[in-house]
This record gives sequence, C-alpha cells and structure tokens, in this order.
Amino acid sequence: MVGWSADIPVGVAKPLKYFGEELVAYRTEEGALHVLNAHCTHLGAHIGHGGKVNGDCVQCPYHGWGYGPDGVNRYIPYEDRPNLSKRLRSWPVQERHEWIFVWHDPHGGPPRWDLPDLWSLIPHLPSSESEYYRGYPELSVKYPREPVHPQITLENAPDSVHFKYVHRATVDPV
Ligand code: FES
Repeated sequence: MVGWSADIPVGVAKPLKYFGEELVAYRTEEGALHVLNAHCTHLGAHIGHGGKVNGDCVQCPYHGWGYGPDGVNRYIPYEDRPNLSKRLRSWPVQERHEWIFVWHDPHGGPPRWDLPDLWSLIPHLPSSESEYYRGYPELSVKYPREPVHPQITLENAPDSVHFKYVHRATVDPV
C-alpha cells in the first residue's frame, strides 16, 4: 500500500518513494491512477515535483516531455514526434477500498495474483463501503518519516493486553 486514494486527486501528480525508488503518481481527469519512475529520461528532472497531468500523460516540469500510462514518451513539445525509445518504468497499480496498491517485483515481473476483495471475504459484514466510517482522513494518522515495519502495526492489534496500560482503556477486549 503506497497511499490513500484521496492523497492523489484528479489532475494531480505527486512524488512517492517506495522500494528504494523515486516514483511519480498521477491521476487523469477520468480518474485513472498511474505510477511511473520519477526521473525524466531527458535530463533527469523529478516529474513528481511540479509535473502536470495532460490528458492521460504526465508532463515533465523541465522541458515538457509527456509520458503515457505505460511510461513511453508520448510527445516532446518542440519536436514533431515523440521519442518512443524513451520509457519510464510503469508500476502496476490497483485501488481497493480507497487504498492505493502498487505491485512490487524486484525483477520487474507482472502481478502474479489479484488482490482479494476484503469485504467479500467476511460474508456476515456489510460489503458496501458506505456502511463503514471512512478510513481516510478521519481514522488515519500519518507519520511520514517514521520507519516502522508493517508487521509491528499488525502485531499491535491482537496484543490487547497492553490497551489498559498504554492507552488507559477502560474496557478489556475479550
Ligand atoms: S528533463 Fe524532463 S523534459 Fe527535460
């Protein structure tokens, strides 16, 4: 998971850093979300800082080169044709339940399995997101520079014994 869907509104390009890579995420006017490597193949500008969304492309803030969702150069404003040999790595993205997921294979392979629909895995609970409180922004806190392994947050939840002492909980979960 690399963010909440609301982090990247329509028409916005934003920098991300995951998997030791500088990335740019952008959302087209149609709402499609794409994630590409961030450094332009021209002179290396970071497209996530000042890049613009143009149709289904993201445009470099330095000389205006545009890249499509597949990462291939689509246009160079001062040339009469794109340079199709110039390509940014494109990362597989899925949005589920207002979360953004990027498939990470260190060797660049495609996704090997589809994300499960969490709500349909728990049949006795309502399957519509509108039945729940929004996770973002109300129930979310971000600590952008805090290095925490995901396992720690998962281990925290079933460790209910600490609720009383650390959080001053007034009831004990059973
Ligand atoms: S560095 Fe991106 S267009 Fe020149």
